[in-house]
Amino acid sequence: MSTVVVTGTQWGDEGKGKIVDYLASQSDIVVRYQGGSNAGHTVSVDGKEFKLRLMPSGILYKDKVCVIGDGVVFDPEVLLAEIEQMRSEGVEIADYRISTRAHVVMPYHRLMDGLEEQSRGKGKIGTTKRGIGPCYMDRDRRIGIRMCDLIDEDVFAQKLKDVLQIKNDELKKLYGQEPLDYKAIIDEYTAYAQKLAPYVIDTPSYLNRALKEGKKILCEGAQATMLDIDYGTYPYVTASHPIAGGVCVGAGIGPKNIKSTVGVVKAYCTRVGEGPFPTEQLNEIGDKLRNVGHEFGTVTGRPRRTGWLDACVVKYAGYLGSLDYLAITRLDILDCFDEIKMCVAYKYKGKIIDEMPASLRIFGEVEPVYETFKGWKTDITKIRQYEDLPANAKKYLERLAEVTDVKLGFVSVGPNRDQTIVCAKEIF
Ligand code: GDP
Ligand code: IMO
Ligand code: MG
Repeated sequence: MSTVVVTGTQWGDEGKGKIVDYLASQSDIVVRYQGGSNAGHTVSVDGKEFKLRLMPSGILYKDKVCVIGDGVVFDPEVLLAEIEQMRSEGVEIADYRISTRAHVVMPYHRLMDGLEEQSRGKGKIGTTKRGIGPCYMDRDRRIGIRMCDLIDEDVFAQKLKDVLQIKNDELKKLYGQEPLDYKAIIDEYTAYAQKLAPYVIDTPSYLNRALKEGKKILCEGAQATMLDIDYGTYPYVTASHPIAGGVCVGAGIGPKNIKSTVGVVKAYCTRVGEGPFPTEQLNEIGDKLRNVGHEFGTVTGRPRRTGWLDACVVKYAGYLGSLDYLAITRLDILDCFDEIKMCVAYKYKGKIIDEMPASLRIFGEVEPVYETFKGWKTDITKIRQYEDLPANAKKYLERLAEVTDVKLGFVSVGPNRDQTIVCAKEIF
């Protein structure tokens, strides 16, 4: 049962790519199980940065297999561009497979994503406009096109004809748009199908066979708990299940096969897009976190909203994901702070509340209860052993583990592979 799941605990961009790349060396197969090219996962190797949107972050190991699972909404153009980019940089990449059941992101999904956002006006979600929500919507309307359909010429031609009629009708009636051209889409997507068909397989049977053979599987979440369609700050969420349980439906790996779960936590907090964020610092502290941490979106380049670490959010992620370990990243960004705060509870109408409010009105009004920690004011980027961290940094980390009731597994002190302190005993 050697499956390890890595998930984001906050609002995304915690450094999942870095942690997955680090753990990939111990695994045989790396799987993405949800989301799509809305993700931007950065992997830094030997000072060189790779920004991955669809490819699992194990791709830089040539002896691994990367799998795009059933729960991913798959944009062929993005994946092919990623591969092209890596090859042009002389990178020898891992072998890869794509699920027959993954839904395909089509041009009308990207178009609709932008138009829907526009029509929401002030109530916009702040989506990445990659067609993610519209593609999952079509899956649920049962008019989606899956990879098994795309690579079957006749089925694709018929399905696209049927769906495009619906889409063009909606584009015209709802948004006064010109219809999309059937022939242009067929030509573009048939070319993708020809290139990708050799990699399209039944991934659940492949993964379950691999588990029986004793192989180690690492599952990479995109987005994070607070962006989960059911458990996040709805409606300011993405359209999939980033939480660890998403692996069971999005990769076809049953719950008994999951050995460990690792929640990635940024040492402070960021959010892109709209929605409540109780510990947000709309002041010079927030500016300092953004500037020191270069907090600008990987996919859209938008400035990220910044604030103090919210341990209530991480605790929530802890029980939703039955997390075994926390992987705390970007601790080094706090090196230059005199004082650091951590939110350990929420107050609502003068009373401490012990649950994550579902109501956005309540979540928007909660008052964070902070504990203040002394900064360590030392460069920690070269530290490799937990014991060698400054005492004030250890106090901060240990308090987080205490509030969330999840053990410290990893502490990341820089973007590179080797800038990782390991506390976890056994992961796989
Ligand atoms: P993801 O979406 O969760 O994979 O995270 P992103 O890649 O969007 O954002 C995390 C950023 O932090 C990337 O630029 C990483 O290279 C970088 N990063 C990861 N861990 C660390 C760390 O411990 N310290 C520093 N300084 N940067 C880190
Ligand atoms: P990684 O995997 C941060 C946010 C968007 C928006 C909301 C819905 O790099 O952590 P969508 O395009 O998914 O319909 O947008 O979710 N969002 C992310 N924020 N990191 C991500 O991915 C995100 N993927 C989506 O900004 O608020
Ligand atoms: Mg990201």
